Amino acid sequence: MGSVTAMHRDAAVNQAATGNQQDRLRVEQVCLRYSTPDGQTFTALENVSLSVPDQQFAVLVGPSGCGKSSLLYLTAGLAEPTSGSICVGGKRVEGPGADRGMVFQSYTLFPWLSVRQNIEFGLKRKGMVSAEREEIVDFYLNEVGLTQFADRYPKQLSGGMMQRVAIARALANDPQILLMDEPFGALDSQTRMQMQQLLLRVWEHSKKTVVFVTHDIDEAILLGDRVYVMGARPGRIKREMEVPMPRPRDMDMVMERQFIEMKREILGLLHNELDKPH
Ligand SMILES: Nc1ncnc2c1ncn2[C@@H]1O[C@H](COP(=O)(O)OP(=O)(O)OP(=O)(O)O)[C@@H](O)[C@H]1O
Ligand SMILES: [Mg+2]
Repeated sequence: MGSVTAMHRDAAVNQAATGNQQDRLRVEQVCLRYSTPDGQTFTALENVSLSVPDQQFAVLVGPSGCGKSSLLYLTAGLAEPTSGSICVGGKRVEGPGADRGMVFQSYTLFPWLSVRQNIEFGLKRKGMVSAEREEIVDFYLNEVGLTQFADRYPKQLSGGMMQRVAIARALANDPQILLMDEPFGALDSQTRMQMQQLLLRVWEHSKKTVVFVTHDIDEAILLGDRVYVMGARPGRIKREMEVPMPRPRDMDMVMERQFIEMKREILGLLHNELDKPH
């Protein structure tokens, strides 16, 4: 287990040495336009720029339709911006790649593979030898508390467990950046809180650069180093805010003054959005 941690630490050092040292993700002046069936143009993202330094946990919040998922898809290389550029580790995104791990709201595990095989999938594709794969998979199974469930299949798991597998699978690949689109959105509030705590703990260990999308303001402040509040029509970044809460974080922080002040500010920005005509 020690060597897995060491391996990941080395990887982080190597990434810092080779890539752009300051910014793991750099989004510059990105616009995304769609043609609508009636011949009009719809602007999903307008001039979106953001820089996420290495090991930072960035959170995007904003009203439905403001382009949060679109921004993640573009970063994942699943779509192309109409203009502007996106770089991960100093390299321009030109398509999907294993350097970007993804966890989405809907469960995306392979149903025909066991928990272990799901987590192992990317490592096998990379051609990693079995003993090394096993060590990494065991490490992440333990991280997400699923060691006992390694041989289960996704349909035998709860929603929270499936998302834990998805997080373990993404991290096992040691991506440069983790893209998470409302990963806990489909969970009940109790499970959601447990998952937030688990993610905080796992993130403290892995210190991956993360871009996390959520509707939940408490979740944004609890998890993030920096919160980007987005606006809709057209989708854009309205405000970038540093989270003042120290780490390690815990659930009790939601009652603290700084937390409540930040929440109030974000709510204010989002309420302005609701007043806008559709
Ligand atoms: N293929 C497409 N063609 C036309 N418009 C699209 C297409 N895909 C997305 N859009 C529009 O782009 C906008 C941004 O969508 P996106 O899914 O990124 O929003 P979101 O912020 O993730 O919303 P939510 O919070 O509901 O998930 C929406 O208004 C959506 O209708
Ligand atoms: Mg979305």
